[in-house]
Amino acid sequence: MYGNFVFRDRKFISLESTVSTNNELKRMIRNSDSPVFAVVSAENQTGGRGRLGRSFFSPSGGLYFSVSLPLRGDENNIPFLTLLAGLAVSKAVQELTGAEIEIKWPNDIYLGGKKLGGILCELVNGKTLAAVVGIGINLSIKREEIPSELENIMTSFVSSGIIPPEKDILIEKIVEKLDTYVYTQKELYEVSEDVLNDIKERSFSIGKKVKYTLGETLWEGTVTDIKKSGAAEIALSDGTVREIFCGEITQ
Ligand code: BTN
Repeated sequence: MYGNFVFRDRKFISLESTVSTNNELKRMIRNSDSPVFAVVSAENQTGGRGRLGRSFFSPSGGLYFSVSLPLRGDENNIPFLTLLAGLAVSKAVQELTGAEIEIKWPNDIYLGGKKLGGILCELVNGKTLAAVVGIGINLSIKREEIPSELENIMTSFVSSGIIPPEKDILIEKIVEKLDTYVYTQKELYEVSEDVLNDIKERSFSIGKKVKYTLGETLWEGTVTDIKKSGAAEIALSDGTVREIFCGEITQ
């Protein structure tokens, strides 16, 4: 089960336990002189990380993996890549289980109105520039195993009554889709119209009334659109329209 193999030019490394698969892959990239094409997965993470410095609950029974994407570009790639990763997860899960996955801007994977997983994209400036896309999905965690403070917001396939896909098959399908999306884009800063429409169709956020917070900023409004850059568009209560790239929206 644990070990290494190569699939479609990518090295797959599966670990029993690690602090964070993103950390592990970033370390590999920093220590390499040449671009790294790899996937690192773990049965559990002892220090799984989410966006905005949060921790990501990562017990056994979930899928935790990170994919490296050697890139040219800069941090502008991050919102765009997060959207593509969300779409890759949504399509892969739908093909394997029939379940409809939505994407809560910018990085949450939603099933039935609750968080099934999340995406953490990070840039690594080693000897080569790369992005690391970390994906965590709750597969077989049972309802009673979900911590009480998370039970209203978190779900898993099993607690939603869906048979989870095989881990290896799900990883391969997500990686295949992510590679296709990333490497068929003409520009690495925005998505094509077709891909954008697919993303919008799966958006949990469009049409929702939200609070937006970033540092001291607090806005209330309605999410009206998702942009090619990865930004969300919000129409504020006072009539102004803003594009947001980072921060958080809550309902
Ligand atoms: C979030 O919910 O804010 C993002 C969660 C991302 C979790 C994944 S699990 C694999 C990879 N390793 C990490 O430490 N984080 C990501």
